[in-house]
Amino acid sequence: FDDVVQQVSTGSLAHQKIDELLREAHERYSDVDDGLLAHYIPILGHADPDLFAIAMSHVGGSVHEVGDCQHEFSIQSIAKMFVYALVVQEHGREVVRERIGVNNTGMPFNSVMAVELNNGHPMNPMVNAGAIATTEMIPGRTSAKKWENVRAGLSAFAGRQLTLDDDVYASESESNERNKAVGRLLKSYRRIEGDPLAAVDVYTRQCSLNVTAYDLAVMGATLADGGVNPVTGQRVVDADVCRDTLAAVATSGLYEHSGDWLFEIGIPAKSGVSGGIVAIAPGKGAIGAFSPPLDIAGNSVKAQLAIGHLSRAMGLNLF
Ligand code: DON
Repeated sequence: FDDVVQQVSTGSLAHQKIDELLREAHERYSDVDDGLLAHYIPILGHADPDLFAIAMSHVGGSVHEVGDCQHEFSIQSIAKMFVYALVVQEHGREVVRERIGVNNTGMPFNSVMAVELNNGHPMNPMVNAGAIATTEMIPGRTSAKKWENVRAGLSAFAGRQLTLDDDVYASESESNERNKAVGRLLKSYRRIEGDPLAAVDVYTRQCSLNVTAYDLAVMGATLADGGVNPVTGQRVVDADVCRDTLAAVATSGLYEHSGDWLFEIGIPAKSGVSGGIVAIAPGKGAIGAFSPPLDIAGNSVKAQLAIGHLSRAMGLNLF
């Protein structure tokens, strides 16, 4: 693969070669049937487990896709990464670092214990507690305004207007007692300033935004490209913000499995419980993959396999 490694680094990897690698990865893992659907949000338990999509966006602006890349699914926890970037852009890294932190909790993404063990500090913006507290820091005097800013910000990362999946939002709103508990706990520790349930509501909406694997690749490539969307040319956040965001993602993007992922694959990646993962290779591009069945930590089994394979084939490992 030496040739490919060299060509990805210099941006000259032939488009046909990328298409070929994507097709090969898709074929290689299509028949894997490990993993379980996320049933704790009722509607996600009805997803088609055979959907499988892989897309890659290069910082040069080309996007490659294979499989169900136009299928929309709710972005879920992957929104945390982009909302964090918007909040660091707004408040600066030190304010956000003090309030939210950047260390791995070593606990599941929805852990209440992690908050208690750390004296009410959320520890990381990529787990639910940190993400709910981060969402509260989005500019806007009302929840409606905050939600509009989240949607506009994530749409700028995607380069198209993203829409809310009303059914996912309804299903999740009816079943998110745990997130509400986490919100109230954070309020008791003064990590949330306003109404904790309002913060959880905006957070639930951000999780219910619809994206495709294609969108994930472009959104990730915007972080790989120092904050400029490589397809639209629009600057969304500063280059420093991308660096800070990718550091936080590297520590906790795949939750308690983030260390293993970094050790094996070597690039920051963020997952969502509907089955999406986006992996970012700074200065090169990003891979978005989608397949609903998940492992025990809530990360898509096939998306991890496909991204791992492509990262090796293209020499994306940072280390
Ligand atoms: O808050 C939740 O539990 C979901 N809306 C998001 C969790 C998630 O995506 C974890 N991912 N792997």
